[in-house]
Amino acid sequence: MKASIVFAALLPAVAAASGQTATSQIRLAYHGDDGMMVSWNTAGHVERPTVRWGASADKLHNTASSNVSVTYPTSTTYNNHVLISGLAPGHTYFYLPSPLPHAEDAKPYNFTTSRKAGDKRPFSVAVVVDLGTMGRLGLTTSAGTGVASNNMLKPGEKNTIDSLASSLSGFDFLWHPGDIAYADYWLKEEIQGFLPNTTIADGHRVYEAILNDFYDEMTAVTATRPYMVGPGNHEANCDNGGTTDSAHNMTYSASICSPGQTNFTGFKNHFRMPSDVSGGTGNFWYSFNSGMAHFVQLDTETDLGHGFVGPDEAGGSEGEGAAPVNATANAQAAWLAADLAAVDRRATPWIVVAGHRPWYLSHKNVTGSVCWSCKDVFEPLLVKYGVDLVLSGHAHLYERQAPLADGEVDPKGLDNPSAPWYITNGAAGHYDGLDALQSPRQAYRRFGLDTADAVYGWSRLTFHNCTHLTHDFVASKNNTVLDSATLYKARSAVEHRAASPDSVLTDCGDKNGYGKDDMRRIPVR
Ligand SMILES: [Fe+2]
Repeated sequence: MKASIVFAALLPAVAAASGQTATSQIRLAYHGDDGMMVSWNTAGHVERPTVRWGASADKLHNTASSNVSVTYPTSTTYNNHVLISGLAPGHTYFYLPSPLPHAEDAKPYNFTTSRKAGDKRPFSVAVVVDLGTMGRLGLTTSAGTGVASNNMLKPGEKNTIDSLASSLSGFDFLWHPGDIAYADYWLKEEIQGFLPNTTIADGHRVYEAILNDFYDEMTAVTATRPYMVGPGNHEANCDNGGTTDSAHNMTYSASICSPGQTNFTGFKNHFRMPSDVSGGTGNFWYSFNSGMAHFVQLDTETDLGHGFVGPDEAGGSEGEGAAPVNATANAQAAWLAADLAAVDRRATPWIVVAGHRPWYLSHKNVTGSVCWSCKDVFEPLLVKYGVDLVLSGHAHLYERQAPLADGEVDPKGLDNPSAPWYITNGAAGHYDGLDALQSPRQAYRRFGLDTADAVYGWSRLTFHNCTHLTHDFVASKNNTVLDSATLYKARSAVEHRAASPDSVLTDCGDKNGYGKDDMRRIPVR
């Protein structure tokens, strides 16, 4: 039967008084190569959120401020957003938001602005998908009934947030294309008896507590590294797409969700992605450049256009009931086509695209797990414009695939393919553990890890120069690389669309072994 429980909307101040912890949740986001969005949370509304900043920790002589201090029903915090603009690309600055709710946060942090497009120096990026809170409200050394015992953390084992925090010097920014915090897992955790001190009637508070916990844990990374995010299905509402309590023969639907815990509300409030400077829409789709790469975040959850109902939209496959985020017909696909057409491949030869759901995967190849309508909408554009790499998650496992187009493996493999390379890595970790790859594996599968391997991990992309890009799967428990593959692209074969005359990328060489004059090939696996 369907259970319908409607909670009264709580004003933030009332919820805060219930004893939940308010955290600073400090986070950054690139905004062009001369700006940085600084965001943080406070227990109450802030009339004039302000960031003091400067070139050194003891000289925070500049200030930036805004009037953006926003919240929503059931939230226990306000989200403050301040843009610092007029910065130099690739420079490090120190900053301190004000006010902060905790004295221990009141020390200057630092960030580095985005590399200027065309900067040829090597750099790395960290990518996680499907990452939930760790500890008492999420993934830990115990779980309720129904979670595979080998998928729980071992006592003392480093989790993915620990791993990222211990690897800060190894990446410029963290990219998280969806499923952030898993606050909507509160319901499953309650049903499975994992949360001993709360009940389903407390759901709205547990949901917010998980969000606060996660963003506080992530501050170890996000206060000093830009945190670029995209939408996943677990941001959409509070019921995890419908959750069944078998013991009581009940299935909960989105009707259990309080106002504020549906329609991507927390996600919309918490972040400010650079869609305003890339023609995108909110935190849902946008692009940005850094160094030799153009990065594109897609929305696989809503707004697919072309007659398709997004999986999280009302009437979609997930039962999430979310609304489209852009009223213009086919807005996302039209934006993607224009965005890719405008890329200057001499400045940013690499194009990396991420969306939450895959369309190629050795997994349950049914709507929901694999997004066929996403393939229909996006893939022709990614092939047409020579996208190099497509990243996704959603399935809680790791699979590196071959470059392929319309299901056909590129015969060149990683040695100068014309088709995009696909990697799914949804193994960052959350309460429920990992998923299984299906057998037999798809023909395009090249390497995989799943629930049987019980390894959590994240992806590291290293842009060596304009011809070589390495993907590593980093095991969170000990920061070791369990899979590594390098894509080679002969850029002379690339059609440089819309190249501007002042492009700065004039050769593909560097002095560290991947150079134009030393074009040794990385072994292709
Ligand atoms: Fe997902």
